[in-house]
Amino acid sequence: MRDAAPQTIFLKDYTPFGYIVQDVHLTFKLAPRATRVISRIRFAPNPGADNKTFFLHGEQLDLKWAKINGAQIKPAITPEGLSTDVPEGAFTFECEVEISPETNTALEGLYMSGGMYCTQCEAEGFRKITYYPDRPDVMSTFTVRVEGPHPVLLSNGNPATSGEHFAEWHDPWPKPAYLFALVAGDLIAHPDRFTTMSGKDVELNIYVRKGDEDKCAFGMEALKKSMVWDEKVYGREYDLDIFNIVAVDDFNMGAMENKGLNVFNSSCVLASPETSTDANFERIEAIIAHEYFHNWTGNRITCRDWFQLCLKEGLTVYRDSQFTSDMRSASVKRISDVIDLRGRQFAEDGGPLAHPVRPDRFVEINNFYTATVYEKGAEVIGMLKTLVGDDAYAKALDLYFERHDGDAATIEDWLQVFEDVTGRNLKRFKRWYTSAGTPQLSVKESFKNGRYKLTFRQETPPTPGQPQKKPRVIPIAVGLLDESGAEVLPTQILEMTKRQQSFKWEGLASKPVPSILRGFSAPVILKRYTDDDERAFLLAHDTDPFNRWEAGRELAKSTLLNMIEDGASPDTRYLDGMLAVLRDDALDPATRALMLGLPSQSELAQTLADKGVVPDPQAIYEAVQTLNLAMAQHMQDTLPRIYAQCQVEGPYSPDAEPAGKRELAIATLGLGSRLDGGKAAKDQFASADNMTLQISALAILLRQKVGDTELDQFYAQWKHDRLVMDKWFGLQVGAAVPEDAAYIAEKLTQHPDFDHKNPNRFRATLGALAAHHAGFHHISGRGYTLLADWLITLDPINPQTTARMCAAFQTWKRYDPKRQEMILAEVDRILAQPNLSRDTAEMLSRIRAA
Ligand code: PHE
Ligand code: ZN
Repeated sequence: MRDAAPQTIFLKDYTPFGYIVQDVHLTFKLAPRATRVISRIRFAPNPGADNKTFFLHGEQLDLKWAKINGAQIKPAITPEGLSTDVPEGAFTFECEVEISPETNTALEGLYMSGGMYCTQCEAEGFRKITYYPDRPDVMSTFTVRVEGPHPVLLSNGNPATSGEHFAEWHDPWPKPAYLFALVAGDLIAHPDRFTTMSGKDVELNIYVRKGDEDKCAFGMEALKKSMVWDEKVYGREYDLDIFNIVAVDDFNMGAMENKGLNVFNSSCVLASPETSTDANFERIEAIIAHEYFHNWTGNRITCRDWFQLCLKEGLTVYRDSQFTSDMRSASVKRISDVIDLRGRQFAEDGGPLAHPVRPDRFVEINNFYTATVYEKGAEVIGMLKTLVGDDAYAKALDLYFERHDGDAATIEDWLQVFEDVTGRNLKRFKRWYTSAGTPQLSVKESFKNGRYKLTFRQETPPTPGQPQKKPRVIPIAVGLLDESGAEVLPTQILEMTKRQQSFKWEGLASKPVPSILRGFSAPVILKRYTDDDERAFLLAHDTDPFNRWEAGRELAKSTLLNMIEDGASPDTRYLDGMLAVLRDDALDPATRALMLGLPSQSELAQTLADKGVVPDPQAIYEAVQTLNLAMAQHMQDTLPRIYAQCQVEGPYSPDAEPAGKRELAIATLGLGSRLDGGKAAKDQFASADNMTLQISALAILLRQKVGDTELDQFYAQWKHDRLVMDKWFGLQVGAAVPEDAAYIAEKLTQHPDFDHKNPNRFRATLGALAAHHAGFHHISGRGYTLLADWLITLDPINPQTTARMCAAFQTWKRYDPKRQEMILAEVDRILAQPNLSRDTAEMLSRIRAA
């Protein structure tokens, strides 16, 4: 499959395509193994380009014929595409190719899922559909005719004519090929309508397979909320007569923002109280919003090249997080986002896969849909907004939309808009886009004669290809408290621009307690040598909800580290602090639940490694169990009362308030189960009328090893439901004790319902193993071998999903020599496979090179 050495592509080599595309006509004659795609494309020389080489991307296509201006041509064909001589001036290129959607297991290009046809073209999948300049800076209008026996035939834009067994679509908005989509199948629409702010009537549909039609209502409400929100907050109106969403079961990612025809992984759109958890509902709302917001940030303004991916993804993640903050609780959203950022992005940034938010090289672009591009990309926008202020941010966004509508833009264009609006020079700030690695921010304080001084120092460890790091611009939100807990200085933004910098406050009556990096104002690792008394104080008094949570988290970490490293027993300051949190009725239940949660075991391992201590996954696991048990004992009298208080009456609603109550109820149930052996959880399982309560009870029972009956009951109840079955698979691995995790995962891969070709099921099972820190890293090495076996099996079928899951091995350097050796042996075993995909080869060789 792979010929010779994979090629690295560099940002610095960008040149525009020699031709512009004036319009595109496509006809699809659908057949499972012999779909014909007939194209007619009008090209004209691009006055902005010197190189007039005519090359069209195309892979795995069977070319039947090609014509230029109506005359047959014999183009040169390689595995990557087609080249030919072309006339001077404008010309029409036509061709017909044959493709085989049914055998397309990579889920890229045109493929089949559960009897329906669908497409996935981002980033470079259109070249598997027909010959085309498959690059985001080539934009054109598309007219598409779909011929097939299916009742529903969809493509981008507005519907034109349709008849028996065909439909035509016209998309008036020029777009790059990666936003192309086609769907055909026996689907059912969940319809609705929306009136935009200028009074335009838009038809909305969520298309699903039969049997799923009762799981669309929530997604539809989320879509309408997103449309209203983007009008109100960003002044962005929808621009077609119709907006369609389609749910597909086989999908590599979460969802895709194709113009007017979003395609969703069914797990990211289908929802019902009986089958979806509160977390599912929240995620679905956020992803619907995300894809909808792409209509402006991604589609109307797209990326010049794939190095600019964060231009659309960072901004759109930022926008969807604003949306969720507005719909739900802003502080809860912020805390959850930071947990996620630290769990995924910090691990990436601190390891062999580290890359800048805007990378400057890649082998396979599919490997750069990362937490760095998405989540850190969003953090960078948040920092920019903090630095310029809300008003300037709003003005800059207006200018961005006005100036670049219809463009394929760059990060330079984006920053220029902010420079023009604010008069600031953002050259230094731009380092957040070009430099990889998480800055470590250390801080020292001094107090004398009423003068309080904070001195910060930033240091970014080297990352692959970037040994030296220049200082970044870091917005540090700081507040000061006095010893009674009263705030003497409300939140203020310090703008750090140098490697080392001090900030002073005069006239203070006594030495204040600083609350630093409020709201997590920058994605850095704060290193503050403080003690647990101060953390306990901030946990009790900080007015900033994020830092209050952070103080509890730091306290938990230091407690756990003392237990792991020195065999200490659980710290009573932590236990008292958490008991106070549990009882604090002034704190909303969701925040309390978040505060009661412990740092992940992987995060603890990283913290140890950062201190130069080799982490022992089993010891970390045991410390967490011990601390949980100690918390349960310490809170014994309060747990049942809070559990009772958090019962939600009436019909299920996924709103933030009842969901938060359930979250706290479940947290108390989980702790309590360590004392009652699962008795209360059995009751909850038996009486649950929604998935949140049912599955949380089951998870608790499995962890207590008393859930076998319930597990079978759950299977019998839900075996017909694919998305619930994914949960069933994942849950058993997640709840296993470390020595059993790989065994259970392996047994599940032999279950008749296991299907490695379905990415959701594969991730549910093997992704759950990779996420089980002590299980995956069990000293037997069984976890490593099982994952490697399955990656080897999956790679020829689905390179994208295989490559993404290779990230499980990225932290190998943290561990002891024995584990390192076992991990590298598995990495090398995969790398030695003949015909390994470019995706997987790139990931593993980067991991190996650490
Ligand atoms: N662009 C999609 C999103 O973030 C993600 C995606 C990338 C989906 C590549 C499929 C393939 O919304
Ligand atoms: Zn996106």
